[in-house]
Amino acid sequence: MTHGLEHRTELLVIGSGAAGLTLAIKLAEFAKVMVIAKSQLKDGSTYYAQGGVAAVFDEADSIDSHVEDTLIAGAGLCDRQAVHFTASNARDALEWLIGQGAHFDTEVDSDGHSRYHLTREGGHSHRRILHAADATGKEIQLTLQQQARQHPNITVLEGYNAVDLITSEKLGLPGENRVLGAYVLNCGSDRVETVHADFVTLATGGASKVYQYSSNPDVSSGDGIAMAWRAGCRVANMEFNQFHPTCLYHPEARNFLLTEALRGEGAHLLRPDGSRFMPEIHPRAELAPRDIVARAIDFEMKRLGADCMYLDISHKPAEFVIKHFPTIYERCLELGIDITKQAIPVVPAAHYTCGGVMADLNGATDLKGLYAIGEVAYSGLHGANRMASNSLLECLVFARAAANHIEAQLADARAAAKPQLPAWDDSQVVDSDEQVVIAHNWHELRLFMWDYVGIVRSDKRLQRALRRAEMLNAEIQQYYSDFHITSDLLELRNLVQVAELIIRCAMERKESRGLHFTLDYPELQDNPKPTILVP
Ligand code: FAD
Ligand code: SIN
Repeated sequence: MTHGLEHRTELLVIGSGAAGLTLAIKLAEFAKVMVIAKSQLKDGSTYYAQGGVAAVFDEADSIDSHVEDTLIAGAGLCDRQAVHFTASNARDALEWLIGQGAHFDTEVDSDGHSRYHLTREGGHSHRRILHAADATGKEIQLTLQQQARQHPNITVLEGYNAVDLITSEKLGLPGENRVLGAYVLNCGSDRVETVHADFVTLATGGASKVYQYSSNPDVSSGDGIAMAWRAGCRVANMEFNQFHPTCLYHPEARNFLLTEALRGEGAHLLRPDGSRFMPEIHPRAELAPRDIVARAIDFEMKRLGADCMYLDISHKPAEFVIKHFPTIYERCLELGIDITKQAIPVVPAAHYTCGGVMADLNGATDLKGLYAIGEVAYSGLHGANRMASNSLLECLVFARAAANHIEAQLADARAAAKPQLPAWDDSQVVDSDEQVVIAHNWHELRLFMWDYVGIVRSDKRLQRALRRAEMLNAEIQQYYSDFHITSDLLELRNLVQVAELIIRCAMERKESRGLHFTLDYPELQDNPKPTILVP
C-alpha cells in the first residue's frame, strides 16, 4: 500500500540479491512484501558470482566433509552449529532454487545418466560446487527476479536507497525496542519516503567497496551494517575482510574476477618468470584456502616489485577452457588476452565481508523484528575466512529460515497496534555547496583502507587508519546534518562507519588468524573468540 511519501507493508526487504529475493519469494506465500534496491534489482554481488554454490550432491561426498572443510577454512573461528545448519540445509535450498527455474550445468556419467557437473574450488576436499558455467550468479539472480516480479504479494521498488531504520526507541515509545520501518531515499525524486513495516530484513550485501580495489559492484557499501549499528545492533568479526586472490589486472577492466574454479580445473599461479610458487607454500598448492593464496600473491608481488602475478590455464585444451569459462574467455579476449594461449595478469582485491550484523540461525538480530541475512550478516558460518561458494549458499539457507521465523509471528503482528511514524524532517538543511568534499573523502577513505587495513596489517597502520576514519566521520556527520542527503553522501557516511568498525575489530585481535594478518602478532592465540562490538 502506497500513499504519496508513505508506504505500508508487512515485510520490508532491503536488498534484492540472492538473500533478499529468496526471502521475499518464500514469505510472499503468506504476507505482503516490499523489496527495495538501491539501483536496478540485479545490481548486487549475486549477479556477478561466477564459481557456484556449494552443496553435497555427490554420493562420495558428505555433509560432515562439507562441515569439516568449512571449519578448516574458517581457521578455528566458525560457529560449528551455524556450519552444520548450513551444510545440512544446502541440498534442500538448492532443490528449491532449481524448482524456481534455475539451471545448473550437467554432465552424463559412465552409466549414461545425467547428473550435475560439480566443480572444485579452494578449501573443498570434494567436487561439490553446482554452477552455471562461469556465470552462476546471473542464473540465480535472473531466476529469482523473474519470480519476484510476477508475484502478486511482492512490490518491487528500484532506485530506492534505505537511509535509516525507524525504531520504537528512537520515537520514544514505551515497551521493548523494535523496528517499525525505514526511511528510504527515492533516487528519482530525491525525496525521503517512509516505509511502515512489521518486519524489516537487511539483505544489503557486503562492504568491500570500503577498499580501493574490489571485485564488488558499486552497491557494496556496507549500508546494512552501518544502519544496524546505528539502530543499536552488535556487529562481529569485521576484521575478516576477504581478498580474492585473482582479479584481472588491466587498466580497462574494473572489478573483473577470475573465478577460483579456474584453479579448481587446473590453472596455475605463476611469477612473471613463469615459475609456480603455491606448491612451496601449501600442500593444496593453488587450491589452498583463499587467505593463504592472496597473501602469497601479495608477498611475491612485494618481494619482486611486480605489478601482478599470472594465472595460467593455457595448458588445458582450448575447447575445455571455452566451454567451462565462456564469460571469462570472452571478456579477456575483448581486452586482448587469449586465455587458451597465454597467462592472465592477476592481483588480489577486496571481495567479501565475513563479519557483519550479528544474527542467529533464523537471521534474527538484536533488534526485535529486524533480520539480517546474506553477506550483511555475521551468522558464524565463515569464521576467520569464508570458503569459496559458501556465500550464495548462506543467502539461500538463511533466507529460508528467516521466512519461516517471520511467518510464525505474522498473526501476532497483524493483531498489534501500528504506531504513527513521523515524516522525514529536512526543514533545517540546505543543498550542499561543496559536493567535492564527498568525492575527496571517498577517495581518501578507500585508499587508506587499502594501504593500512589491507592484506597485511600492523598496529601502527591501524592507528593511522583509525585517526583518519574518526576525522572523516566527524566531517561527514557535520555534512549530513547541514545538507540535503544524496545517495553518494549516504554511501560515504556508511562506508566511513564500516571502516571504523573494521579497524576497531582489527585492533582488538592480537593475533594473526585467517584473513587477519598483522606483523605485530604473527602467531595464533589459544581459545579464539569472535570479535564482538557493542554500540
Ligand atoms: P547482494 O547480491 O550484494 O545484493 C545486495 C542488495 O542490497 C542489492 O540489491 C543492493 O541494491 C541492495 N542495497 C544495498 N544497500 C542498500 C540500501 N541502502 N538501500 C537499498 N538497497 C540496498 N559467492 C559464492 O558463494 N559463489 C560464487 O561463485 C561467488 N562469486 C562471486 C563473484 C564476485 C565477482 C563477487 C563480487 C562475489 C562473489 N561471491 C560468490 C559472493 C556472493 O556473490 C555474495 O556474497 C552474495 O551474492 C551476496 O548476496 P546478498 O543477497 O547478500 O547481497
Ligand atoms: C569465485 O568464483 O572464485 C568466487 C567464489 C566465491 O567467492 O565464493
